[in-house]
Amino acid sequence: MKFQGTSNYVATADLMLSVNAAITLQRPLLVKGEPGTGKTMLAEEVASALKVPLLQWHIKSTTKAQQGLYEYDAVSRLRDSQLSDIDGGERVKNIHNYIIKGVLWQAFTAEQPVALLIDEIDKADIEFPNDLLREIDRMEFYCYETRELIRANHRPLVFITSNNEKELPDAFLRRCFFHYIKFPDAATMQQIVDVHFPGLKADLLSAAMKTFFDVRNLPGLKKKPSTSELLDWLKLLMAQDIPASVLQTQGDKVAVPPLVGALLKNEQDVTLFEKLVFMQQRNR
Ligand SMILES: Nc1ncnc2c1ncn2[C@@H]1O[C@H](COP(=O)(O)OP(=O)(O)O)[C@@H](O)[C@H]1O
Ligand SMILES: [Mg+2]
Repeated sequence: MKFQGTSNYVATADLMLSVNAAITLQRPLLVKGEPGTGKTMLAEEVASALKVPLLQWHIKSTTKAQQGLYEYDAVSRLRDSQLSDIDGGERVKNIHNYIIKGVLWQAFTAEQPVALLIDEIDKADIEFPNDLLREIDRMEFYCYETRELIRANHRPLVFITSNNEKELPDAFLRRCFFHYIKFPDAATMQQIVDVHFPGLKADLLSAAMKTFFDVRNLPGLKKKPSTSELLDWLKLLMAQDIPASVLQTQGDKVAVPPLVGALLKNEQDVTLFEKLVFMQQRNR
């Protein structure tokens, strides 16, 4: 099993190296990076390239580690026990009917090797990664209700993503292989755009790229636009048939680009940008 990128995903050499290192070590790959730099998509693309199913677990602030293992649905069992005349109470007697399997259980007991994505782990509370240490390390856990040990038939290929909102515990980090997706440089970004919009006119592309990187390099931005925002913006520019000349600026001067709402997502950033444009125009 080796990952070499796919036709819809641009993977840099160091990213491919990290993915293959995690596969070799059989350790989870912890992927960090700005939102929109392709962390979630990486797991999807690696799974499809290696032809293994991908089980996804999207973490929220309220997600508990136990939900990834299993949950015991005591309420349904109680209700069924009160309606036991339906099937002679057979269903209620078997506790297995009330165990809801989480993604880890499904991944461990799958017949073929699978990939498992634990997406945006930094959204959960600080205990969450610690609570999964043993399960991820040993690839097994115990179900107390049914008194069975659930052990992985095959070690799943685990991807864990983080937007870096919280630090992760050291004990957790020790068990992962780490990769930081750097923000793509201009050449890589060009490749990514080519993958999404192969027919984009060259002059529009180069003008848009220049504007995009100008906006990104603006000092003091609260939220820098990322890959997915550039792609959205390009899609709009194409849909509205905006010519490259509208984006082109003289020398180093910047102008507020059309449809800037696709790139800048809060009013402070837009104001900052407008101020800068205004000052530059005055200095002419
Ligand atoms: N390396 C890449 N190759 C192709 N498309 C990319 C790449 N990186 C980002 N994208 C685009 O950006 C979008 C956002 O990526 P996503 O995986 O959701 O980011 P993240 O999970 O890091 O927030 C994707 O749907 C894809 O269209
Ligand atoms: Mg994501």
